[in-house]
Amino acid sequence: MRRKMVAGNWKMHGNLSENKQLLNAIVTSLDGLQGVEFLVCVPYLYLPSVQDTLQNTNIAWGAQNVSQYEKGPYTGEISASMLNDFECRYVIVGHSERRALFGEDSHTVAKKYQAAQRAGITPILCVGETLEQREAGTTEQVIEDQLAAVIKLTGVESLVSAIIAYEPVWAIGTGRTASPEQAQDTHSFIREGIEKQNANIANGLTILYGGSVKASNASELFDMPDIDGGLIGGASLVAVDFVAICRALHQ
Ligand code: PGA
Repeated sequence: MRRKMVAGNWKMHGNLSENKQLLNAIVTSLDGLQGVEFLVCVPYLYLPSVQDTLQNTNIAWGAQNVSQYEKGPYTGEISASMLNDFECRYVIVGHSERRALFGEDSHTVAKKYQAAQRAGITPILCVGETLEQREAGTTEQVIEDQLAAVIKLTGVESLVSAIIAYEPVWAIGTGRTASPEQAQDTHSFIREGIEKQNANIANGLTILYGGSVKASNASELFDMPDIDGGLIGGASLVAVDFVAICRALHQ
């Protein structure tokens, strides 16, 4: 059985009091649900207070980025060992906003993935194509290259303790979700690619879908055989929506 997960990506949203309200509502609604992992990836600064609120609940917390370096003169950066101080079990790496807006190339993403794993933190590796790339018919090539950069650095075995999130860039924050069939096609492409290198790892690998997942479309996406959950942006900021998405996976 593959692990199933719904992960929220708050991006640069929230404040202390809003976060508390949001989390209290989520904690209450998801209390006792088992068999699915729930996670919120929050801005660094809120990790201590989120840790405090979520301690002893069935919701985990994580970060949205991590430095590729262990320590040193890297002003403004946060290392994986610092995330460990706040008991983060997960970190998102290679989100398309980091790649597109902050210049992270696939090699840098691979280094971040490696830095997380070295610290015992599970990376959630984001891959996905832009609209231009999809229309040019290069989706599979783009994703293969993004994955290859990580596998080259850390080996296919490293995927045993990782999660992949397929997030078509054109579906992120646009309200335009990939159809369940489109998402399934890419998820199975990812799994088959890894299967060629190691079938056990491919079978056990959790692959999340992200990009305008909402309460209204979550079930049909999660029903697809290679979609093991979701990485949720906008809808993770609204308690009823996030909870509905979590319940859709739990069924
Ligand atoms: P969205 O974001 O759900 O708002 O489209 C998903 C993401 O960026 O992870």
